[in-house]
Amino acid sequence: MQVIIFDDAQHVATHAAEWVAELLNKNPKPVLGLATGSTPISLYQQLVNKHQAGQLSFKNTTSFNLDEYLGIDASNAQSYRHFMNENLFDHVDIDISKTFLPTCAQGENPRTQGLKYEQQIKQAGGVDLQILGIGANGHIGFNEPTSSLASRTRIKTLTQQTLNDNSRLFDKNEFQPTLAMTMGIATILDARYVLLMATGESKAKAVKDMVAGPLSAICPASALQMHENAIVLLDKAAASQLEEQEYYQWAHDQNIMINQEFGLYHNY
Ligand code: PGA
Repeated sequence: MQVIIFDDAQHVATHAAEWVAELLNKNPKPVLGLATGSTPISLYQQLVNKHQAGQLSFKNTTSFNLDEYLGIDASNAQSYRHFMNENLFDHVDIDISKTFLPTCAQGENPRTQGLKYEQQIKQAGGVDLQILGIGANGHIGFNEPTSSLASRTRIKTLTQQTLNDNSRLFDKNEFQPTLAMTMGIATILDARYVLLMATGESKAKAVKDMVAGPLSAICPASALQMHENAIVLLDKAAASQLEEQEYYQWAHDQNIMINQEFGLYHNY
């Protein structure tokens, strides 16, 4: 796991945007895994800026989002489809028919819908780069604590902590879904590269458990310890409980030197 600590959230987003731009510029048929939540919004803003400046095209990109709520449809302002349209898709040249979310409409069987999503990812050639946030409880996607580390796309019941954390986004009398479809942990681990962004003090404990804790279903993000190419981008607040901060900085400096000599090598 490569841990990179930045001064602030803006630098985290800038670095993440560089990774995405590299993928889109290098790979003729990029497959991008996308996340919702507050954390990736500034990444999406930077991608939109790059696109508007003529530096980045999403024309050949296929995207797969991590998760989607059950019980509300795409037109609902709380749906993750709506979030993605508002924050990214409506502002770039992506072919909207190649943007996928793990949906399950009323009356559809979540078991078969999960399987279908897995097949769609496979047919697209697998995810090249998966963007991730992390919940204060260590979840990735909506893989809540106790999720199987071998899980695949499926229906998931949200924990009370996640419902509380996300309640800020819902009006007082608005329906807040308690169920979601989410890529599983094994689905996420299949991505060729994983880029996790975490900012703010509220994520510090989850980040510590993910990076330095035992591999455990109680902290689903700790499964990333098993990933060959997991990059964790943190601001200082989110990194504040990590004991090895000096080492991460030192290792990052070495990587920059190697990149300067040999160029970036990502197997995109
Ligand atoms: P946040 O959510 O970016 O809104 O903090 C992250 C997550 O729950 O994965």
